[in-house]
Amino acid sequence: MNPCADARAAELRALLQHHAHRYYVLDAPEIPDAEYDRLFAELQALEAAHPELRAPDSPTQRVIGQVLDGLAPVRHALPMLSIRTETDTTASGAQAFDMRVRRELGLGDDAPPVAYCAELKFDGLAINLRFEDGVLVQASTRGDGHTGEDVTHNVRAIGQVPLRLFGDAPPVLEIRGEVYMRRDDFERLNERQREKGARTFINPRNTAAGAIRQLDSAGMADKRLSFFAYGVGEVRGWTTQPGTHSGTLDAIAAFGVPVCAERARVQGAAGLVAFHERIGAARDALPFDIDGVVYKVDAIELQQRLGFVTREPRWAVAHKYPAQEQTTRLEAIEVQVGRTGKLTPVARLAPVFVGGTTVSNATLHNLFELRRKGVRAGDEVIVRRAGDVIPEIVGRIPAPRAHYVPNFRMPPACPVCGSAVLRERGSVEHRCSGGLFCAAQRKQAILHFAGRRAMDIEGLGEKLVDQLVDGAVVQGLPDLYELDAQRLAALERMGEKSAANLVAMLARSKSTTLARFLYALGIRHVGEATARDLARHFGRMQLVMDAGAEELQQVPDVGPVVAQSIAGFFAQRHNRDVVQQLVDAGVHWEEGDGAGAAAAAPSGVLPLSGRTLVLTGTLPTLTRDAAKALIEAAGGKVAGSVSKKTDAVIAGADAGSKLDKARALGITVLDEEGLRGLLGDGGATAQAGTGPA
Ligand code: IVH
Repeated sequence: MNPCADARAAELRALLQHHAHRYYVLDAPEIPDAEYDRLFAELQALEAAHPELRAPDSPTQRVIGQVLDGLAPVRHALPMLSIRTETDTTASGAQAFDMRVRRELGLGDDAPPVAYCAELKFDGLAINLRFEDGVLVQASTRGDGHTGEDVTHNVRAIGQVPLRLFGDAPPVLEIRGEVYMRRDDFERLNERQREKGARTFINPRNTAAGAIRQLDSAGMADKRLSFFAYGVGEVRGWTTQPGTHSGTLDAIAAFGVPVCAERARVQGAAGLVAFHERIGAARDALPFDIDGVVYKVDAIELQQRLGFVTREPRWAVAHKYPAQEQTTRLEAIEVQVGRTGKLTPVARLAPVFVGGTTVSNATLHNLFELRRKGVRAGDEVIVRRAGDVIPEIVGRIPAPRAHYVPNFRMPPACPVCGSAVLRERGSVEHRCSGGLFCAAQRKQAILHFAGRRAMDIEGLGEKLVDQLVDGAVVQGLPDLYELDAQRLAALERMGEKSAANLVAMLARSKSTTLARFLYALGIRHVGEATARDLARHFGRMQLVMDAGAEELQQVPDVGPVVAQSIAGFFAQRHNRDVVQQLVDAGVHWEEGDGAGAAAAAPSGVLPLSGRTLVLTGTLPTLTRDAAKALIEAAGGKVAGSVSKKTDAVIAGADAGSKLDKARALGITVLDEEGLRGLLGDGGATAQAGTGPA
C-alpha cells in the first residue's frame, strides 16, 4: 500500500463523486467534461498501478460490458411490498383513502386532518439499492417481493445512481425507488432506431425494465435511464433517521440520490385531492410517464400503527390517472400527406379514451415500421398517447403473427394529387413529388404560413383551410391576401364577425420580420432558428434568394443538407414568384445590412450582441419564451441546437441531450442566475458565470 497514492485515489474518488452528482442528479455541473475526464483518467491510471486501490465505489467501476451467465437471486432483507391501487380516478378515490386511514386510527370527526406525503407514481421498474457504509453493494429487482434478481452490473451504469452516498451514511441503508426512462430519452432512442431501420421500442417502461434485466450491460450503452427514490428497505444504525416519510425523502436527497421534486406534504383529504388535480393537469408536461400519484401517511409512527394487510401497507395507496395505453381495433390504414410531402401511414381506430383524450387516429410512422409491427386492418392493437407526443400504435395483440402478410401498400401515386410517390435510396420515407401542386401539401403549407410563430394569422385553422383549398378559393399563399369579408362570410360556419376578424388579422400579418417570413415559407429544414440566422446573416430577402449553397453554409448551424434545401427552394421559379406576389400583396418587413446587424440596435453595445445561446431544460422562473425574449433584447440569439459556434448553454431542470453535447464540446453551461448575470452587465458577470467551463 502506498499511502500517497492511497490518499490521492480517495481524493479523486470524492471529487469525481461530487462532480457526477452535480452533473447527473442536480444537472448543474461545476467543471467541464474535459476536466472530469482528466480526473477520471488520473484515477484509472492510479488504480492500474495499484490494483489494491480499486474500490467498489470507485467511479471507474461504472464500466459497461460486464456479461453474466444469469441473474443471481437476491433474498430481500425486508419484503418489497406493493401498494393498493385506487382505480376510481376522481376525487373520491383520495377521500376514500383518507376515510379508511382515519377509521383505522380511530380518529373522530373533530380530530385534526392527517398529514400525508403525496408523490408521483413512476412508471418504471422497482429497484432496491443496498448501501453498506455508504457504498453501493447491490442493486436488485423486486421479483416476487421476497426474492428479486441481482442487477448491480446494469444499475452501476446509470449515472444518476451514486456508487457512494454523501455525508454520514448509516452502516446499512437500503434505498428503494424506480428506474425509469424519460420520454425524450425514449423518443431519441426510437428516432435513432428508425433512422437505422431497426426495431423500435414499445414504451419507456418496457425499455427500462428490459435494459435492467439484461445479462450483458452493454445493452445500457445506448439507453439513458433515470432513477427516483421513494422509500427505504432495511436500515441499520441510522441514528438520525427522520420520523416522517417526507423527512426520509429529504434525507435520501441529501445523501445524493435523486428524489423527485414533485412531492408535497399535504393535510387531509382536501390536500390529497388538490395534489391529484394539480399533477393531473401537469401530467402531459412532465418529462416522464406516470400512471398516478401515491399517498403515504407521513408519520412513521402512524404507519406502524396502521400496519399491513397481506402484502400491502394500510398507510399507502396509489391513485390512478387514465391509462396512457389502451387496446382498440385498427379499422383501416390510410395515408396522410404532410407539409413536406412525406406519406405517413395512419391508423384509423375505433375511438378509445387514452392518456386523457379520445383518440381515433394514430401514427405508424412509415412503411417499414408498420411492417415490423406486423399490423393489419382488423387487428386489435395497443395505442399509446403520452405527453404531447402524437398517438402511436405500439403493437398488435396478441404478438405479431408468424406469417405476416401485410394488407397495406404504399400507393405508387399520391392519394391527394396523383403525383408520383418516391423514396430516396436508404431512406425509410416515401414522399409525394407534387410539391405545392399537391393540395395536401398546399393545405399544410398554408397552415404553416399562418402559424403563430410564422405570419401569425389567427383564425386561419384547419377546417377553414380545407374549405378554402377544396373550394379552390385559395390556390396558393398569395391568394390569402385576396380574401375579403364577403367572400369569407359565404363559407360554411363563418359568421360575418369572424370573417371581418380574419380579414383584419390578414392585414395585420402583412407587417412582419424577415425571419418570420423566411420561416413561414416552409422551406424544408428551415426551422425558426435557421430562419432567424438567415435573416441576421443576410439582412435582405434578395440576398437569401440569390445565395448559393456554399454561401449559405457561412451561416451558423447551416450545413450542406440545409443549404441545399434552401438553394433548391429558390432555384424554383414558382417559389420566387410566390415571394414576389406576397410582396406585391403588401407583405413587408424591415431589411437590414446583414451579418448580425439587427435593425435599429447599435451592435456591440448590447451585452449579448454576436453571442449565440442555447436553452435547455426548465428554468426555475423564466419560461422558454421569456428567456428567449430577454436574450434577444440583449442582442443575443437563441439557437435550437448546440454546435461549436454556441457561446453558452443555459440549462435548467431536466436538461437533455443538448447539455450532454455542450459538455462534450466544452461549452460554457450556465443556470438561470448565470443567464441573468450575462444580461445584467455583460462582461464582468459573464466571466464570473463561466466558472464551470
Ligand atoms: S411505495 C410500501 N412510491 O408502484 C410501498 N411505489 O405497487 C412500496 N411505484 O412497483 C411502494 N412510484 O415500484 C411507492 N412513489 C412511489 C412509487 C411506487 C411507483 C411503484 C413501485 C411498485 C409499485 C407498488
